[in-house]
Amino acid sequence: MTAYEYETHDYDVVVVGAGGAGLRATLGMAEQGLRTACVTKVFPTRSHTVAAQGGIAASLSNMGPDNWQWHMYDTVKGSDWLGDTDAMEYLAREAPKAVYELEHYGVPFSRTEEGKIYQRPFGGHTTEFGEGPPVQRTCAAADRTGHAILHTLYGQSLKHNAEFFIEYFAIDLIMSEDGECQGVVCWKLDDGTIHVFNAKMTVLATGGYGRAYFSATSAHTCTGDGGGMVARAGLALQDMEFVQFHPTGIYGSGCLITEGARGEGGYLTNSEGERFMERYAPTYKDLAPRDYVSRSMTMEIREGRGVGEGKDHIHLNLSHLPAEALAERLPGISESAKIFAGVDVTKEPIPVIPTVHYNMGGIPTNYFGEVLNPTKKDPNAVVPGLMAVGEAGCASVHGANRLGSNSLIDLVVFGRAAAIRAGSVVDAEAPNPVLNQTSVDAALDRFDGLRHAKGNVATAELRLEMQKTMQADAAVFRTDKTLAEGVEKMTVIAGKVDDLKVTDRSLVWNSDLMETLELTNLLPNAMATIVGAEARKESRGAHAHEDYSERDDENWRVHTISRVDGNKVDLSYRPVVVDPLTTEKEGGISLKKIAPKARTF
Ligand code: FUM
Repeated sequence: MTAYEYETHDYDVVVVGAGGAGLRATLGMAEQGLRTACVTKVFPTRSHTVAAQGGIAASLSNMGPDNWQWHMYDTVKGSDWLGDTDAMEYLAREAPKAVYELEHYGVPFSRTEEGKIYQRPFGGHTTEFGEGPPVQRTCAAADRTGHAILHTLYGQSLKHNAEFFIEYFAIDLIMSEDGECQGVVCWKLDDGTIHVFNAKMTVLATGGYGRAYFSATSAHTCTGDGGGMVARAGLALQDMEFVQFHPTGIYGSGCLITEGARGEGGYLTNSEGERFMERYAPTYKDLAPRDYVSRSMTMEIREGRGVGEGKDHIHLNLSHLPAEALAERLPGISESAKIFAGVDVTKEPIPVIPTVHYNMGGIPTNYFGEVLNPTKKDPNAVVPGLMAVGEAGCASVHGANRLGSNSLIDLVVFGRAAAIRAGSVVDAEAPNPVLNQTSVDAALDRFDGLRHAKGNVATAELRLEMQKTMQADAAVFRTDKTLAEGVEKMTVIAGKVDDLKVTDRSLVWNSDLMETLELTNLLPNAMATIVGAEARKESRGAHAHEDYSERDDENWRVHTISRVDGNKVDLSYRPVVVDPLTTEKEGGISLKKIAPKARTF
């Protein structure tokens, strides 16, 4: 029996996280009359979606011919044939609808002369099934698209009477004896009280775990809280070895410079002033997908053609673009370049370096957002009462590599899909589940154990060890040696959780305890990443393995499923969904068109 008193809240749905996916799900649930709570550790408009810059992909055809089949093809190829085809079709087909909904909700998109939504080119988005020129598919609100979407969705959620529990930290899921999710146990940060959310459906929208690395574009709040809770519930994570490095993080600070900068005509150069992307990707050049560009930059640096004193970064050039265009289309990054690199983009290049940006892997789901608990007998078995959306989830539409601007569209398409699904599976008239007290107590015992931790290792110290190890050993390029060393080091690091030291025992605004809880979420995500990467003996998308430089579809076109228990990771594999939702006759894309082939740009 726990020593903590708590308040219980009954809802039809509890959404954990208030970024783009969490808010789109919250809004959709509330709109249908489901009693919906959204629990978030930060104020909704401070969620990491606010940092999304360049835009949201949808084949609106506002700036030239486009269609969802081309978008789907690019996503399949971008994923290096590891994405689930049904989910990728759903994403591309539903994208225009989801963007028009955002427009009608009030997102202030930039406009064309005719007043249509402005769209810019982004890496890997093409015409004619990869045979034609780049397409302008990325809908933008200047370079503050995520900011615009987040504010709009929060306003709309309030309008539909969703209830927000702000600055509540989710400790753990409540699971019934027979594996059904019943809600979540939370700690209210500003007064130290404990709250139990009893819900018929729990939606994890907790974002990625970029902060498992030393240098990331992700906010400090991106600590993989959903993945951590899922791992502790004995459930699976999927494809965690695929970590995206964005080509243009500002050298030194890691702050994002949008791919939209290259979409608007910016280009990369090495120490010889050469536009080197022309050598690596002769057709799409600087607009090749991110894994391609990040690898090319890393090769230039390795071969001694990096810029700066240490020859350890690359230049992004924008000064040839008209100053008015920079002010209108890229005001945010112009300001960031000034603040974080001291650079006036109208005159000088921005120093950039590939920086951790996005997790393709996450909590496995189907394309309705329902969490999967894959078994040998049923790789698509669903966990009753649990959904995951956004970067926390893995639908899997990004496979081994995500295309830029496919993240914002993933958030809204699958946030919306989860709401539609909940509308049909959640019975608003039914009573709430009888909570499994053992599960509630276990969550609070863990919380109490960390609160009173008296070991020898400070949280910040252990976090730094993890971040440096992940940065060095699960990098843009990987080898058997670096990965084996990484697994060894991470096993020791994750084992030190039992020796943590927390110095503040209070319950009100205890950032020491909160960061410790976050570290216990980062660690299982990091363990799954490094162990999954060590096991995958091929190169695919963001997993560039120098000892196995080719993609191996015969043996490795499979999703990695990891179950993490402390510093141990159990791996198994789940087949990739190959069949699309519709046949060619029904207007869909033919299997032949999307069959795996060499991925060149
Ligand atoms: O480069 C960017 O604006 C980031 C977009 C994305 O990750 O989708």
